[in-house]
Amino acid sequence: MKDIINFGLVGCGRISKNHIEAISMLKDSARLVAVCDIDPVRAQKTGEENSVDYYTCLDDMLARDDLDAVSICTPSGLHPAHGIAAAKRKLHVITEKPMATSLKKADELISACDENGVQLFVVKQNRLNPTLQLVKRAIDKGRFGRIYMAIVNVLWSRPQSYYDQAKWRGTWEFDGGAFMNQASHYIDMIEWLIGPVESVCAYTGTLARRIETEDTGTACIKFRSGAMGSINVTMLTYPKNFEGSLTIIGENGTVRVSGIAVNKIEHWEFRDYDDDDKLVGMSSYNPPNVYGYGHTGYYKNVIDTLKGIAEPDTDGREGRKSLELILAIYKSAREGRSIPLPLEY
Ligand SMILES: NC(=O)c1ccc[n+]([C@@H]2O[C@H](COP(=O)([O-])OP(=O)(O)OC[C@H]3O[C@@H](n4cnc5c(N)ncnc54)[C@H](O)[C@@H]3O)[C@@H](O)[C@H]2O)c1
Repeated sequence: MKDIINFGLVGCGRISKNHIEAISMLKDSARLVAVCDIDPVRAQKTGEENSVDYYTCLDDMLARDDLDAVSICTPSGLHPAHGIAAAKRKLHVITEKPMATSLKKADELISACDENGVQLFVVKQNRLNPTLQLVKRAIDKGRFGRIYMAIVNVLWSRPQSYYDQAKWRGTWEFDGGAFMNQASHYIDMIEWLIGPVESVCAYTGTLARRIETEDTGTACIKFRSGAMGSINVTMLTYPKNFEGSLTIIGENGTVRVSGIAVNKIEHWEFRDYDDDDKLVGMSSYNPPNVYGYGHTGYYKNVIDTLKGIAEPDTDGREGRKSLELILAIYKSAREGRSIPLPLEY
C-alpha cells in the first residue's frame, strides 16, 4: 500500500465530520480526495469546506482513478449497497455502524469484499474508549474470575425533532430503533466483553415517538459462559441524556463504568492488585458528545491494517456479531419467546 491512502466519503451528514476530522488528523498517511451526497447543497458545502471534489452520484465518485478506500456515512440500510459498489471497484470499505439492517445484506457485503480482495471495516470507535480498554484488559487478564452478571443502561434522550430531521430515521428498512441505532455500540460492547451469547429474551415498545421502530426496550441475555446480562435502552429520558453505563459483577471483581457514554469509571474493585489500577483515575474523560473521540483511533487502525502492520479492530465478521444480537433482540420481542444464537435468516 502507498504511503498516503486516498479516501472518498459518501454521506455528508452528522457523522461525516468525525470521519473527515480523523482523516485530517492522520494527514501523514491519509488524505480525503472526494465526497458525495445525493443532497447537492451538502455535497458542495462539504467539498468546498475541505477543498476536495464533490459528487451527487456515488458511481461517478467511484469512477475516479485515485481512490484507495471509501468511507460510508449514509443511512444504515444503504451501507451494503454502497459498500458493495465500492468493493466491486476494488476499493477498501469503511462503513459506519450498523453495517446493515439485515444479516442477509451484511453477508452480501462481507462476500463482496472477500471476492474483490478488499478489507471491510465496521466503525466501532467506542471500543477504543480508554475506560473500555481498561475493562477489556481486566477481563483478558482474568481479574474478574468467573463473570456472573453484566448490566448495560443506555438512558438517553432523542426528541421527536431528532427523528423528523431525516426520513430514514426510525424506519425498519433504513435505520432500526433504539437498539439498532443509538445503543448499537453498547450491544457491541457487551458482546465483545462478555460474549458469545447463547440466547436472548426481549421486550420493545414505541412508547412516545412517532416512528416505526422502538424508542424503548429491555433485553435479558444468557451468555455461553453461563453469565447473565441485561440491557435497558430508552430514548425518552427526561430532560436529556442521563447515562450510558456498564456494570460487571465477577467472582473477584466489581466494576461500574458510567457517565453519559461509558466515559467515567465510577467503581473499580478487584481482589488482587494490578498495575492497571493506577490508570483508573486517568482513564475517565469528558466526551464532546456521545460519539466520543474514537474515530481518529479507529482510522489509525484502518491505515495500519491497509499498510499491513496491524490486524483490523473490527472487520466485517466482527461487526456482524452485534448486528446478529440486535436482530435476535428484535425477533424475541416480536415473537414473545427466547431466541437462541446463531440466528438463521
Ligand atoms: N459511530 C457512531 O457513533 C455514529 C454516530 C452517528 C451516526 N452513525 C451512523 O452513521 C450513519 C449516518 O448517520 P448520520 O447521523 O450522519 O445521518 P444523516 O442523515 O445526518 O446523514 C446521512 C447523509 O447521507 C446522505 N445520503 C442519503 N442517501 C444517499 C445516497 N444514496 N447517496 C449519497 N448520499 C446519501 C444524506 O443526504 C445525508 O446527508 C448511520 O448509519 C448512523 O447509524 C454512527
